[in-house]
Amino acid sequence: MKTLIGWIVGTLLIVLSISGCGDRNQDFSVSTMDKAPAADPSIDAKALFQRCVKCHGKLGKKQALGTSRVIAGQPKEVLMKKIEGYQKGIYGGSLKGVMSPQAQGLTPVQINALAEYISKLR
Ligand code: HEC
Repeated sequence: MKTLIGWIVGTLLIVLSISGCGDRNQDFSVSTMDKAPAADPSIDAKALFQRCVKCHGKLGKKQALGTSRVIAGQPKEVLMKKIEGYQKGIYGGSLKGVMSPQAQGLTPVQINALAEYISKLR
């Protein structure tokens, strides 16, 4: 009989300690979620890139109008500088008159997201 009581008490203690741990884990994950930076759901780089597809190709591998460099896989920082350069009219070759209007109206956050997306196209 003593061993049975001991067994029950032991089991209860184990169950209690396990559920106690569970509670702590739950608290922890809730508080980390609170601190996580909010993603910006309004920026969908893939959707934005659709307006570039007709010239640069679905995977950014086409030479636009048969002349531009391939943009897929260029480093993100380089792409950002070039897109901003077209916006300001300080970058481009003989066809920058075609590309500049494409860059107009893009916000810095959109350029950032687009450059990131294009740099990862393979
Ligand atoms: C109407 C066709 C057209 C569309 C649409 C277009 N582009 Fe272009 N793009 C070009 C042409 C042509 C060039 C080469 C222009 C030049 O001579 O500098 C170019 C060049 C570029 C370059 C520079 C490549 C390099 O390494 O020199 C980048 C980056 C670029 N485009 C990004 C984009 C992005 C991002 C979009 C969508 C927001 C876009 N383009 C939409 C035609 C287009």
